[in-house]
Amino acid sequence: MSVLQHDKIAIVGTGLVGATCAFTLADSGLASELVLVDVNKARAEGEAMDIAHGAAFMPPVQVRSGDYEDCAGAALVILAAGVNQKEGETRLDLMNRNMAIYRQIIPILEEQCPDAVFLIVANPVDLLTHISAIMLDHLPSGRVIGSGTVLDTSRYRLLLSQHTGIDPRNIHGYILGEHGDSEFAAWTLTSVAGMDLMDFCHQCGACDRHLSDVVRSEIYQDVRDAAYNVISRKGATYYAVALAVRRIAEAILRDEKAVLTVSTHVQGYLDLPDVSLSLPCVVGKGGVERVLPVALSGEEMLLLHASANKLRAALDELNL
Ligand code: 2OP
Repeated sequence: MSVLQHDKIAIVGTGLVGATCAFTLADSGLASELVLVDVNKARAEGEAMDIAHGAAFMPPVQVRSGDYEDCAGAALVILAAGVNQKEGETRLDLMNRNMAIYRQIIPILEEQCPDAVFLIVANPVDLLTHISAIMLDHLPSGRVIGSGTVLDTSRYRLLLSQHTGIDPRNIHGYILGEHGDSEFAAWTLTSVAGMDLMDFCHQCGACDRHLSDVVRSEIYQDVRDAAYNVISRKGATYYAVALAVRRIAEAILRDEKAVLTVSTHVQGYLDLPDVSLSLPCVVGKGGVERVLPVALSGEEMLLLHASANKLRAALDELNL
C-alpha cells in the first residue's frame, strides 16, 4: 500500500497538453514531486529534463519521468493521455480511441494511487470522466473529476471582461454542461460586484454595445467555438487548458473549497440522466466535495437537460 504524498502529482500523457500542464505545475510551487508518464518514454523523459533544467528559476520541485509504478502515492493524477481533436473533428469523435486507453490505464493507476484525486483532461472529457468514475465507483464520490468547462468559463469571463472593462477574475459567471458544443452560458448566474450582469450593464455605461440578445449570442458562440478557432490556426490548444488544470490542482492540493465548474458524475441532480458534466462544484482535497444548487432560468434549465441528454445518448451508444 503506497503512502500518500500530499504534494506529489503524476501526469499521464506528455503530449502538448500534458507537457504544458507539467510546465505550469512545476513552476506553481504546488508540488515537490512531478512524475511524467507516457507510452513514448523518450518523450516523457525529454519533457521532464527540459522542465527540470529550469530548476534555478522555480520553487524546489523534483521533475522526473517514469512508469505507472513511479506514480505511487501521488495525491493528484492528471490524465492527459489520448488523441486530441484535429480540424473538423468534435471532441466526441475521439471517444472510441481514448476510451480504450482509459479502460487500460485507470485500474493500473488506482492500484498505485489509491488515495489520489483523478483529474481527466483528455477529450471527450465528460465521457472519459464518466467511464473513469464508473470504473472507480468504489472510491469516495468526487475523487474522479474532469477539467470540464473550467476553461470555457475562463473564455466566457475574458469576453465579458473585454465588454465591461472589469478584471476577468472579478466577473462571476459560468459555462455549464458538456465541455463541448452543447455547453451553455448561465447568464442568470453572472454578476459583477454582486450585481446581476444585465443590471450592471444597464448602469455601467462603459461599453458602446449594450449586452443585447445579439451581443450575448455572439459572446456565447465565441466561447463555444473557441477551441475550433484556435485549432484551425495552430493545430491544438494547450496553454489555457493547462492553466485551468493548475487552478483545479491548487483547489485540491490546498483544500481551498473553491467553486469551479469541473466535470463530475452527477447522480440524482435536478432529475438529470446518469452522466458526468460541469456544474458549480466545491473543490477541495477530496476532489468534488459538493455540487452546488443552481438558480437557472427556465430556458437555461432546458439547455442543461439538453446537454445532459446529449451526453447520455453518447454513453448509451457505447452501452455505458
Ligand atoms: C479546448 O477546449 C480542445 O477541449 C480543448 O481547448
